[in-house]
Amino acid sequence: MEKLIIKGNKELSGKISISGSKNATLPILAATILANQVTLKNIPLVKDIFTMVELLNFIGLKARIIKKKNIIKINNNEKNINTLAPYKLVKTMRAGVLVLGSLLTKYGKAKVSLPGGCAIGTRPVDLHLFALKKLGAKIKIKNGYIIADAKKGLKGCVIKFPSISVGATENALLAASNAKGITILKNCAIEPEIKDLILFLKKLGLIINLKGRSIIIKQRKIKNSKIVHNVIFDRIELGTYMIAGALQATNNIIINKINPKIVKSEIDILRKTGVKITIKKSSIVIRKNKKLKRINITTKPYPGFPTDLQAQLMVLLTQANGVSKIKEDIFENRFMHVSELKRMGADIEIKDKTAIIKGPTKLTGAEVMATDLRASVSLVLAGLVAENKTIINRIYHLDRGYEFLESKLKSCKAEIKRV
Ligand code: UD1
Repeated sequence: MEKLIIKGNKELSGKISISGSKNATLPILAATILANQVTLKNIPLVKDIFTMVELLNFIGLKARIIKKKNIIKINNNEKNINTLAPYKLVKTMRAGVLVLGSLLTKYGKAKVSLPGGCAIGTRPVDLHLFALKKLGAKIKIKNGYIIADAKKGLKGCVIKFPSISVGATENALLAASNAKGITILKNCAIEPEIKDLILFLKKLGLIINLKGRSIIIKQRKIKNSKIVHNVIFDRIELGTYMIAGALQATNNIIINKINPKIVKSEIDILRKTGVKITIKKSSIVIRKNKKLKRINITTKPYPGFPTDLQAQLMVLLTQANGVSKIKEDIFENRFMHVSELKRMGADIEIKDKTAIIKGPTKLTGAEVMATDLRASVSLVLAGLVAENKTIINRIYHLDRGYEFLESKLKSCKAEIKRV
């Protein structure tokens, strides 16, 4: 099994270009079921995207990745369509459940494996099914599968989500795209990745308006023209490298190919800790401040601070002066990285949903184990700060979501290798 070895405590400086967003590409790939010919540009070459492409091909679309150009070309010639998403593909990547909305609305039926639990909590799909039922789908759960039926088509309506969910908003949007009449979704997630999905659906000819946390979708006959879409940058990858810079860049790290306006809450939080940030039109320059300040934060749906950066921020706060608190308000079990960070010398205590971090602490290299995507990358960040060698096991989690992680860090003078 592959491992990462990091020789830490090196000064970082250099340039990093941010890849396309995994979490935007996945729902847009699910939306390509609704179209005929699509070219997606700026896609990240990571495992979750390969799995989603495999799923589309299993369904009967012709999806092909052109790796050299970071492009996926998708054709749906409507022949031999299989409205099934099998367990073996959905179990490794929860976003597989997003094909449910597209298949159901277009073909009137779908059988999609329940994604099951994962390291960060139970992650149910009740909100997804709640929305589909409101649109008129009949849904049964049998042998671990969601069996959905809408032979007479889905019908637009008003749906108010009892709580905010990214995936449920996406599935409802996809299902509503071919539902008769108008659908109004209320209390939606409004993450930039959802806005990118809306942009894609508009290219298919749909009329979609976003007002606050409401999304209004007017059905239109979907265009069969060739659609080209450039996927938005990965704001979580950006946040991760900003934190790497905040930890170790005595000179500047310049991070390119981004839109700083989209990551305002992340920039504000980092500035509160004292990190030096210069904002340009499509890049950010970041530099370490030796005297980091403590902060208290709570993870929130966008535009709040993202849960997907909670583990990385925690590493930064181990280096801040005083006691910081992070409350995890999105997932029930997302402190798996804490025990590994403690093995590297961090002083962190967990009380209910809150991690209490005492800093600054000197981190030292250790052999650690990655548990999920973002927890894994927090261990990489800890390894960059720690004295001596850090060995990170189970790095397949990292490969699900970070494109060219080692080469990007190496270009900033990090000593990191895969063995
Ligand atoms: C997406 C992101 C993930 C991110 C998360 C929160 C993708 C592919 N993944 O995941 O990286 O961490 O948003 O920003 O975009 N919930 C329910 N019932 C449901 C659905 C969700 O109770 O039917 C709960 C979840 O357990 C969780 C909360 O709602 O506690 C938010 O989850 P959700 O926003 O749905 O996350 P995902 O879409 O799975």
